[in-house]
Parts: sequence; C-alpha cells; structure tokens
Amino acid sequence: MNVLGFESSCDETGVALVATMPGGPPRLRAEALHSQAAMHEAYGGVVPELASRDHIRRVLPLTRRVLAEAGATLAEVDLVAYTRGPGLAGALLVGAGVAVALGAALGRPVLGVHHLEGHLLSPFLGEKPPRFPFVALLVSGGHTQLMRVEGVGRYELLGETIDDAAGEAFDKSAKLLGLGYPGGPALAALAEQGDEGAFALPRPLLHSGDLDFSFAGLKTAVMTQLRKLGPAPSDAARADLAASTQAAIVEVLVAKTLKAVRASGLARLVVAGGVGANRRLRAALDAGVRRLGAEVSYPPMALCTDNGAMIALAAAMRVEAGLEQGTDAGAFDVRPRWPLQEQSAPAGA
Ligand code: KG4
Ligand code: ZN
Repeated sequence: MNVLGFESSCDETGVALVATMPGGPPRLRAEALHSQAAMHEAYGGVVPELASRDHIRRVLPLTRRVLAEAGATLAEVDLVAYTRGPGLAGALLVGAGVAVALGAALGRPVLGVHHLEGHLLSPFLGEKPPRFPFVALLVSGGHTQLMRVEGVGRYELLGETIDDAAGEAFDKSAKLLGLGYPGGPALAALAEQGDEGAFALPRPLLHSGDLDFSFAGLKTAVMTQLRKLGPAPSDAARADLAASTQAAIVEVLVAKTLKAVRASGLARLVVAGGVGANRRLRAALDAGVRRLGAEVSYPPMALCTDNGAMIALAAAMRVEAGLEQGTDAGAFDVRPRWPLQEQSAPAGA
C-alpha cells in the first residue's frame, strides 16, 4: 500500500510517500519538509496566521518533490493521510484540505491521523523497529507522556506533564538564555560546552511516586539564576546554565521512564517526539535501559521532529490493523484539541 501523508499541525510542512507490504517493514519512498522556524524566529514563537499561509505556499511544491524523488505518480497512491489534530486549527486545515481534495480527485480514501500517534509509531521506520507491546516516552514541544502500547490503537496513558511539556521547558529556558527559536537544539548545542553540575536546579516531581511530570517551575529557576548572574553573563556561565538545565530535564525524564519500564514488566521502550533527538537524553536512556536488560528504539534522527512520513505510516498501520477503512473523500474536519485516548480501543478490546 502506498500512502501519501501530509503534516501541517504547527510550523513544519511535511509530505511523504510510505510503502507498506504485508510481512515486511514499511519503507519511506521519499519525504520533503519545510521548516518555518526562520520565519517565526523574529516573533519568538509560532504566529498561527503566518503558519497557515506558509503551509499553503509550500504544500504543493513539496508534494511534487516527493513524487519526483520517489519516481512515483499520483495514480500509485492508495491512501491519502493528513494530520487531523491536535495542532493549530488554521494550519491543520491546510493539510486536511489538500488531502481531501487529492482523495476526491484520485478517487482514493482519505484518513485523518492523530499527530501523537504519528510520533508514537515513527520508530517503526527506524533501523531497529520495536515490537509490541512496549512502553513509550513521547516528548515533544506540546506533550510529555508515558504510555503503555499494546498494539496499534491500544494506548494506555501512564503519566504526563501537569503543566509545560519537556520541549517547552527547553524552548522557554533557551529563550531566557537569549537563544533563537526553537530553542531545544540551540540549548543542547550550548550545553555541550558547559558544566552540568554548575547550577543546582530543581528536579520537579522526581520523587512524587507517580509517573507525572512538571516543568513549569524550571524556567523560573533558570530566570532566578540568570538574574543572579547580572545583566551580562559570561559565555561560560551561560553554557553552564544551559548544561544544568538540560541535565535537570533529562534526569527527570529518564528516572520516570525507567520507573515506567520496570513497573510495566515489559523490556521494551520506544522514544518519540522532537526532544527524542536530544543526544544527552538518548545517552542517559540507553545506559538506563541497558542496566534493566531492556531495549530501546528511536525514530531515525530526521523523523524525531514533525514530518509527513510518520503521518503516512500511522495511517497505513491503522488500516492494516483493521481499525480504519479510510473515509470517503468529501467531508472533513480537524481536531485542534484531541486526546490520543480517543484513538485508543478500550482496555481488553
Ligand atoms: O515533535 P516536535 O517537532 O513538535 C511537536 O509536536 O511539538 O517537537 C518540537 C520540540 C521543540 O520544543 C524543540 O525545541 C524540541 O522538540 N527539540 C529538542 C531537540 N530537537 C528538537 N529539544 C532538545 N534537544 C534537541 N536536540
Ligand atoms: Zn510533533
């Protein structure tokens, strides 16, 4: 099955063609991505109206590029998939509109996909694809969740952030440190030159006994440290603070994730979402999982952040699991707020 996927939930326009075969691993035939980061940088965050307009400008040229790179024609597309939510309403509508129009023109079914399900299943496009069941750590700019995943469409929430997401903690701290948007990768790069023991930052909810997270207090702590450093902190002090911030986020993520793996009795972990690209987090998780005698799968580096491939893949996996037929092209909607649990079968089903 050839699935053409569209992602436009936030500030990245992603298009990809994924092929699946019964019994074989899914194959990414081609993908193209346009990041709007540079456009939003001047505003310090995503401007929804600008995001929607830019998705409109980019989506068709990207689609042509994907088809050309795959050496494919639209006639080969069996299913069209788009991100239905969660995300920015106007941005989501661009991908939805294009997907539904294409489906109607081609006479092919169209399927709206949950963005987080896309992230969650993206490691199946990686070098070491996971096997069900597993524990999943989903760490993106909007979400931080631990889940028990029994199979496609069977997701049980084990814990989540009660305020900011891990990516948000990276981004907000980076902003305080005067780094660009999105700040996660920039903060991680600066942290490489710093000493992570230099500042004692809080580890919120580390010993809470449950699997929930809280990151909102961290940016306040970073702000307090910055104030103490005065109006012109040295490069070395900024790098130390970046390293200490990263270490605080990583320590909590790793402790709770390993606790979830131990409690689940499963020996498999999957990490997905933009923060999953963080090398310090990967190194700490790799070491922790090894100590537990478990294994961990990541998506390919390039598919950690938003992309069309994960949307095409999730659509294919849902159809192949018998959960969807794909809707008839025509009516469509988007779900700017959409709990993943609504895409999950009741326990025991
Ligand atoms: O999954 P994603 O592309 O978008 C959402 O669905 O939110 O994740 C974006 C988030 C941003 O907060 C970004 O700063 C963070 O992932 N991120 C990173 C790294 N790469 C991306 N955070 C820390 N280290 C990185 N290397
Ligand atoms: Zn995402």
